[in-house]
Amino acid sequence: MDIIDAIHQRKSIRAFESKPVPREILKDIMELALRAPSWANTQPWEFSIVSGKKLGEIKQAYLARADEPPALDLPPPQEFPGQFGTRRRAIGKTVFELKGIGREDQEKRKWWELQGLQLFGAPAAIYIYIDRPFYFQGDTVNVWPIFDCGLIAENIMLLATRHGLGTIPQRQAVNCPQVLRKILEIPDSKLIVLGIAIGYPDWGDPVNRFRSEREALDKVVRWHGFE
Ligand SMILES: Cc1cc2nc3c(=O)[nH]c(=O)nc-3n(C[C@H](O)[C@H](O)[C@H](O)COP(=O)(O)O)c2cc1C
Repeated sequence: MDIIDAIHQRKSIRAFESKPVPREILKDIMELALRAPSWANTQPWEFSIVSGKKLGEIKQAYLARADEPPALDLPPPQEFPGQFGTRRRAIGKTVFELKGIGREDQEKRKWWELQGLQLFGAPAAIYIYIDRPFYFQGDTVNVWPIFDCGLIAENIMLLATRHGLGTIPQRQAVNCPQVLRKILEIPDSKLIVLGIAIGYPDWGDPVNRFRSEREALDKVVRWHGFE
């Protein structure tokens, strides 16, 4: 598959089949994903790739804590001003409509959040983390390892499409870092950045059939120095 097809095909999947993802395929994806660039080739990323009973344990623990507020290692945005809020609401509206969830239907909204915490049924997950002391440096933070994690995350997601796999990068997957630390034996010296749910998409679910929108090129790009 060429890169253009992979970019076209990749999109966030929010309903997975239970069919397991073979370790060999995940290994194949990860070997190549590691070619991602990083600041001065620091390669700040580490991964826990989880399936089977272990993932079941995590999902169970997440369910048990579903009523507790998220406690991400990297705090989520506090606000989504202007256009960011508009775009965020648009994606939420589309997903809710496709799942038949009314705006005021708190029960179904809660159910949907639980689906997210259960990785939308994905049979595997890739958790990405970095060294805490590389991020917190004196009075400041070094954001670049997070940027680097984004680069490798995209590699992973694009490479997954080649195997007919779907993915979704998820803050929901890292809502409870303490659970992940305990079950996966990730030391406190690591900062858990992101989880990617991965598996075979359930194409029968309408939530997987839409394509999220993007702004037109002219709205986000300014050109300089071209004749
Ligand atoms: C860092 C990050 C965290 C995300 N967390 C979630 C999440 O917790 N739940 C969810 O449904 N989607 C999550 N998404 C997926 C985005 O909503 C999705 O990427 C965006 O709407 C664009 O759609 P696309 O991925 O289908 O192109 C996340 C994406 C990123 C990059």
